[in-house]
Amino acid sequence: MPFLPLDFDLTSLPVWTVTPEGLAARLDELGGSVAAFARACGFEATAGALIVVPDAEGGIAGALFGLGRRGDPARTPFLPGRLATLLPPGDWHIDGPLEDETLAALAFGLEAYRFGRYRDAPQRAVRLRLPISVDRNRLGATIEAVWLARDLINTPANDLGPAELANAIQAVFMAAGGQVREIVGDDLRDGFPLVHAVGHGSDRAPRLIDATWGRTDRPKVTLVGKGVVFDSGGLDIKSDAGMLLMKKDMGGAASALALAAMILAADLPVRLRLIVPAVENAVSGRAYRPGDVVASRKGPTVEIGNTDAEGRLVLADALALADEEAPALLIDLATLTGAARVALGPDLPPFYTADDELAQAIAEASVRVFDPLWRMPLWPAYRSMLDSKIADTNNVATGGFAGSILAALFLQRFVEAAESWVHVDVYGWTPAARPGRPEGGEAQAIRALFEVIAARHPKPAGVPTEPLPDAV
Ligand code: BES
Ligand code: MN
Ligand code: ZN
Repeated sequence: MPFLPLDFDLTSLPVWTVTPEGLAARLDELGGSVAAFARACGFEATAGALIVVPDAEGGIAGALFGLGRRGDPARTPFLPGRLATLLPPGDWHIDGPLEDETLAALAFGLEAYRFGRYRDAPQRAVRLRLPISVDRNRLGATIEAVWLARDLINTPANDLGPAELANAIQAVFMAAGGQVREIVGDDLRDGFPLVHAVGHGSDRAPRLIDATWGRTDRPKVTLVGKGVVFDSGGLDIKSDAGMLLMKKDMGGAASALALAAMILAADLPVRLRLIVPAVENAVSGRAYRPGDVVASRKGPTVEIGNTDAEGRLVLADALALADEEAPALLIDLATLTGAARVALGPDLPPFYTADDELAQAIAEASVRVFDPLWRMPLWPAYRSMLDSKIADTNNVATGGFAGSILAALFLQRFVEAAESWVHVDVYGWTPAARPGRPEGGEAQAIRALFEVIAARHPKPAGVPTEPLPDAV
C-alpha cells in the first residue's frame, strides 16, 4: 500500500483559504502579524496564490492560499490540490472556505503522485490533515486506484507487455479473493479470433484476461478495457509523432482496473467482472494485413481496412464475451480514437450509450465529482459508412468523418444482451499539469462511473461485512 499523504490525527499548521471578495474581512479576522504580513506582500488571493506567513520566532504561523474570484475558470474544486506541490514540508490542515472538502483532499492526494520507477522521485514530505467529514477509506482507495492506473500507463512498453498487464490485474483480484483466467497466444485463435489477429504480429503473446469477483447471484457489472500495450499502427504504421505516446494505449485497461479496485475496496454488492484483451500491435512477418478478413467471436466477419484501428477489433471480441451473460451494466474504456481528442480535447472524454437514464446519471456524477465526460451520439445513419464489399463489416470508413462515433458504432454491433452498455473513448493522458492532475498517464472517467455504479448498487445499510465471495 503506497504511503498516502493524508490522515486525521496530525498536529498541523493552518492553510487559510481566501477569496479576493472575502480577503479584507478575512485578514481583519486573522488580525495581528498575519494580516500585516499578507498586506505587506500585496497578497490578492488570486487562484493558486500561496504565501507562507512567519511567526515571531521565525517559524511558520500558517499559509494563505488564494481561491480566485467566483467565475474564474481556475477556481475549481481541485485547485487546493496545488498545496501538495506548493506548501513547505510539514503537516497542514485547511481552515476556511472550500468548494468541497472531499474533492480538495482528493486533489491533494492526486497531485502528490510521483512516478519513481526509473529514477529517485521521492514524494514531498507534505501531509494534509483530513476534516472528519471525509471518508478516509473511500478517499484512500480512490487515490491508490488512480496512482495504480497512472503507474501502469506511465510504464513504457518495454517493461509492460501483455503478461505484465495480466500480472497487475491478478494482483488486484487475487488480493480481494477474486479469480482470474487467461487465454494466451494460439489458444485465442478459435474463441477470440480478432484478439489473436491483432496480437499475432508481436513476439509477446496476446492474452484475454478475464477476472471475476463476488457471488454470482448478484447483479453483474462488467468492465472491459482496451489493453494495447503499444500501438505502432501495425503495417499501417503510425508516424513518429503519432507513435510517440502509444505506450498509453492500454489506458482503458489501466482505468478499468482502477475502477475495479475501487469497487472491490468499497465491497459493493455486485458480481464484478473485468475483461481485458491485452495485445501489442506490432509490425512483423506475422502481422495482420490491410485487406485481411477475420471472423469475430460473435460471428460477423470483419474486413481490416486499417490495421491501426486495432482497438475496436480486440474490444469487439471482449465485448462479445461480456455480452454472453447479459450483464446488468457493461462499461468499456478505451483510448480508441484520435478523433475523440479532435472533437473534445484531451480532458473531456466522450461517452456513448443508448440508455438515456444512464447517460443522465453519468453526466450528473461527472459534474459532482469533477471528473468530466461528455455524451456523444450513437448516430445510426452513419452505421452504413462501415459497410464492406466482401465482409459483414469493415473496421474503418473511408472519408474521415465522425471517427469517434464510427468506432462506437462498430463496438455497438457486438453488444446485444447487456441491459445497459456505455463506451468511453478516453485519452488517458494529461499533456500539461493542472491541479490534482500531474503531466502523464491519467485515469479518466472512473470516479464518475464509480458514483453511478455505487448509486445503482448501494451497500445495504447496517449489514455486517460479508465473508469472502464464493467461487464462481
Ligand atoms: N490508439 C489509437 C487512438 C489514439 C491515438 C488515441 C492518439 C489517443 C491518441 C487507435 O488505435 C488508432 O490508431 N485509431 C485510429 C483509427 C483510424 C485508423 C480509423 C485513429 O484515431 O487515427
Ligand atoms: Mn491504432
Ligand atoms: Zn490503439
